[in-house]
Amino acid sequence: MRAMVINGFGGPDQLVWGDLPTPEAGAGEVLVRVICAGVNPADWKTRVGKLSAYIDYHFPFVLGFDFAGIVEAVGEGVDAFGPGDRVFGMSKQGQGRDGSYAEYCIADAAFVAALPQGWRFAQAAALPVAGTTAYGGLVDVGGLSAGQTVLINGGAGGVGSICIQIAHALGARVAATCGPDNMAYVRGFGADHAIDYRAGDVAEAVRQWAPGGVDLVLDAVGLDSLLPSAVDIVAPGGRYVEIATLVSQASADEVARAAANGVSILSNMTAVMRLPQHLTELAALCAAGGVKPPAIEILPLGEAAEAHRRIEGQHVRGKIILEVAPHDD
Ligand SMILES: NC(=O)c1ccc[n+]([C@@H]2O[C@H](COP(=O)([O-])OP(=O)(O)OC[C@H]3O[C@@H](n4cnc5c(N)ncnc54)[C@H](OP(=O)(O)O)[C@@H]3O)[C@@H](O)[C@H]2O)c1
Repeated sequence: MRAMVINGFGGPDQLVWGDLPTPEAGAGEVLVRVICAGVNPADWKTRVGKLSAYIDYHFPFVLGFDFAGIVEAVGEGVDAFGPGDRVFGMSKQGQGRDGSYAEYCIADAAFVAALPQGWRFAQAAALPVAGTTAYGGLVDVGGLSAGQTVLINGGAGGVGSICIQIAHALGARVAATCGPDNMAYVRGFGADHAIDYRAGDVAEAVRQWAPGGVDLVLDAVGLDSLLPSAVDIVAPGGRYVEIATLVSQASADEVARAAANGVSILSNMTAVMRLPQHLTELAALCAAGGVKPPAIEILPLGEAAEAHRRIEGQHVRGKIILEVAPHDD
């Protein structure tokens, strides 16, 4: 099969075409013919080698967590799906296996779900990592419920675009940070209040909106973007959930100061962050119209390097999707 591979860690130009054997589905696995692959910040972080302390990589290596496509074959013990099914899900890139920037990829059946009704492949490929992180972060880790207030820090990104919608669908009051060009975009997804982080002190703007503090902060940017008083914008008894990986995270002092205020700082590495059922719960929300596709820019798979340059710049609105096989959805 044709794939975009890296032959070593490094810059975006490490991404080159390669020919690899088509993988085979083992027990409990699904082989998917990839139509579209979603691009996540974790992809460039993997490309430069930031995750090599945790995962044993081989080269050539195929990046890409997110896919949407058509089931080609299933391994032993898989009866939920069969050849021809339209699905989306997550590859095993996080376990060091080849990912979705390829004509075919393997996924655990538990991390595959039926394409939500009415969604195109390119739209569904935007969902797996961002959507499950948003769902797990808000619901399982954040404990968000109707009537509570939540700040989504980084509302215009892949995770933020879905967080705003899930929080809104849960009946929470939602504030979201973004740059000046994305104020209407985040409001369009249900943010009650958009905060331009370039216009001044974000913490002060949050305090004006929720004088007693918010019940939850879902931080998809990094604690230093909200300093010096990130923890102080959370109401006593509230939660601060860190999503952003390998960026500034709470120091021991901050954790202690938060605890003294009754605020829990919860890390993105929390075990319940991404569970198989999040994918199906997310698919149900999407099918019911509670979550709509984020803004999507589609590039051909051969332009994966350009996609990486853009996502590394940290100002993508919504998601970049790589088209692996043009398909008339
Ligand atoms: N732990 C996990 O399992 C997990 C899963 C998914 C993602 N993550 C991590 O979470 C982070 C976000 O992921 P993502 O997919 O949402 O990234 P992304 O789509 O690349 O985020 C880009 C967005 O960030 C916004 N942004 C940049 N600087 C900002 C600031 N100072 N304040 C507010 N918004 C700002 C930009 O909005 P403007 O253009 O308007 O500035 C842009 O829309 C990344 O670090 C990623 O690695 C972790």
